[in-house]
Amino acid sequence: MGITFDQQTQTFHLFNDRISYFIKVSETRHLMHLYWGKRLHTNQLDYILAAKEYATFLPDTQDIDNFQLESLPQEFPAFGNNDLRSPAISLVFENGSRISDFRYVKHCIYQGKKKLEGLPATYVNDEQEAMSVDIVLEDTLEQVQLVLSYTIYENYDAITRSSRLVNHGKKQIVIQRLLSCNVDFTNEEFDFIHLSGAWARERHKKRTPLRCGMQSIESRRGASSHGQNPFIALAHKDANENQGDVYAFSLVYSGNFVANVELDVYDNVRVQMGLNPFDFTWQLKAGTSFQSPEVVMVYAKNGFHDMSSTFHNLYAQRLIRGNYQLKPRPVLINNWEATYFDFDEKKIMDIARTAQPLGVELFVLDDGWFGKRSKDDSSLGDWDVNETKLKGGLKQLASDINALGMKFGIWVEPEMISPNSDLYRTHPDWCIHVPKRHRSLARTQCVLDLSREEVCDFVLQMMIKTLSSAPISYVKWDYNRNFSEVYSIAYPSDQQQEIAHRNMLHLYKILEELTTRFPDVLFESCAGGGGRFDPGMLYYMPQTWTSDDTDALERLKIQYGTSMVYPPACMSCHVSASPNHQVQRITSLKTRGICAMSGNFGYELDITKLTKEEQEEMREQITLYKRIRNTIQFGKLTRLADPFQDNDVAWMYISQDDTEIVVNLVRQYATPYPKTTMLKLRNLNVTAKYTVEQDSRMYTGEELMTLGLIIPHLEGDYDSVQWILHKVED
Ligand code: DGJ
Repeated sequence: MGITFDQQTQTFHLFNDRISYFIKVSETRHLMHLYWGKRLHTNQLDYILAAKEYATFLPDTQDIDNFQLESLPQEFPAFGNNDLRSPAISLVFENGSRISDFRYVKHCIYQGKKKLEGLPATYVNDEQEAMSVDIVLEDTLEQVQLVLSYTIYENYDAITRSSRLVNHGKKQIVIQRLLSCNVDFTNEEFDFIHLSGAWARERHKKRTPLRCGMQSIESRRGASSHGQNPFIALAHKDANENQGDVYAFSLVYSGNFVANVELDVYDNVRVQMGLNPFDFTWQLKAGTSFQSPEVVMVYAKNGFHDMSSTFHNLYAQRLIRGNYQLKPRPVLINNWEATYFDFDEKKIMDIARTAQPLGVELFVLDDGWFGKRSKDDSSLGDWDVNETKLKGGLKQLASDINALGMKFGIWVEPEMISPNSDLYRTHPDWCIHVPKRHRSLARTQCVLDLSREEVCDFVLQMMIKTLSSAPISYVKWDYNRNFSEVYSIAYPSDQQQEIAHRNMLHLYKILEELTTRFPDVLFESCAGGGGRFDPGMLYYMPQTWTSDDTDALERLKIQYGTSMVYPPACMSCHVSASPNHQVQRITSLKTRGICAMSGNFGYELDITKLTKEEQEEMREQITLYKRIRNTIQFGKLTRLADPFQDNDVAWMYISQDDTEIVVNLVRQYATPYPKTTMLKLRNLNVTAKYTVEQDSRMYTGEELMTLGLIIPHLEGDYDSVQWILHKVED
């Protein structure tokens, strides 16, 4: 691994054993993108720039003969330099001009990786793990510097990037756009991959051919959103799970983002990702700087499995932090779908008493324990326990649950305020709103204006008080509406387009403080299900509630899409009631269990209403899960089939030490007299020998990957099977 700068060719080369990334400083000192992909052993890539000659009606850049930035692959295009494709940076200067001209001035190559100020990012544990370079460009007329930072890791096929703008001048500059990355490729028959959906069907994998013009995904909602995840990839037409080049981009940010893919008329592709310029500007005062979020760029030469493995390893090992980073996650029971708001301490204790002997390790008290909240129309902001429902409060309940031998956790939604709350009556202006205009409610609530210091302080102090009030081991941090009427009365008119980003920065500050103060609390992020399932939140909270859709079949698609980027230990997956509350589908407890064995396992139904046989089945599921949870949560995932295309959906986990394998299969729909089918496994050792627990038979890796496991007779729709294999010989 290394980063070199070749003086003669003025070329940067970022490389590890498997990937290379080349940037060149042109004679005009513009930064040109030369190459990103499989490792190359050269520094002479200038010919890539020579071949372009296009008819264009634009003037030559700086009147240099045949030198047109629009025809060239650029590293970080600025608005104004005769390139009318989408810019990565766009500024407005005091005189109203929007033209900037950034040229290379210097660079600094160093071991390790710096922290991003105020923003989540991947990190190193040891300086030897990675190398970084900060490349400094300057617009000399306006005395503003642009610092492009890159890191390459030794052990992950990823390059991380971010950009920072520093105003060295005496005048204020307005940032209209400062993206995190730009990559100019030649189109190689790419498909565009992204994860999109809606509430209850988040992160479905979408794949479409690139078409001429701009194709984008974005969030304008104040959260990364249910609709689009901050991830995109370009994949060669022939790329699939196991083969083909994939170039993937994942933004470490939880608010408004954009990902642009622009295919120009000459078949060049420009990919960009970063903060969404929609309704965004930033007043960059003299002497201040602005930092963009980090984008993680993964090159995979062997398809989507290869891409996901890089993201999984990097995010599990160098994004997620804290005491739970590599610790087995507890089996939990959550009372939401069991009781909704209708509970008291007796009901809660009944569930807890039933759950504990079955092996459940953590009880999570969901929404409705505070203020006067008996439905979703009040009390957000009034975080004192409702003693009519819970006599003795959280302290009593937590110690009663602890006495049973289980840990105790709570639900909170600290970023919100209900108009029907004492907090709102005292501080009606603490929410995001435009004075004198109607305040639109979603789920009867407003969003607190975290861009204000005093509001942040309230949220932080409230959380500290709550977490100190009882033995609380887990927090489910929810967020159930998006932004509207974005405005803050604490800021002047020319800073109103900073509010969405300022809210995010302050949320990160609160989370940093809280997770540092309470290192033993397991935090789980949630946003009406998976409306903020992104790397930014994972930096603070090691797991996320995947979706409010707990139906086993629907989860196959949601979990498949989520697994493209996020490691299994990030995904919380619960067994819920049948018929399912979201789609009314009836599925067996067995299938619900197998589908939920895809990450952090739990239950979310009234188990006091289960029959003795069902409770016994649940006990067996939990015992089994505990035995294999290390393999599922921290093992290596292989997707064997695609729920969007295949009727039999299968996936497998190989433990980190390669000795245990868990294989899950769900048949979506029954067919009459199905032929005998076999499930071919992948990523095993060809010569190793494996036994299958279910039939005690011995197979070689070669057999399992060439012929496969016989799928037993499955009954009806939604039946499933699970195999556990052990490696007995290398
Ligand atoms: C939305 C979450 O996704 C649910 O699991 C539940 O916690 C509700 N909010 C509670 O209001």
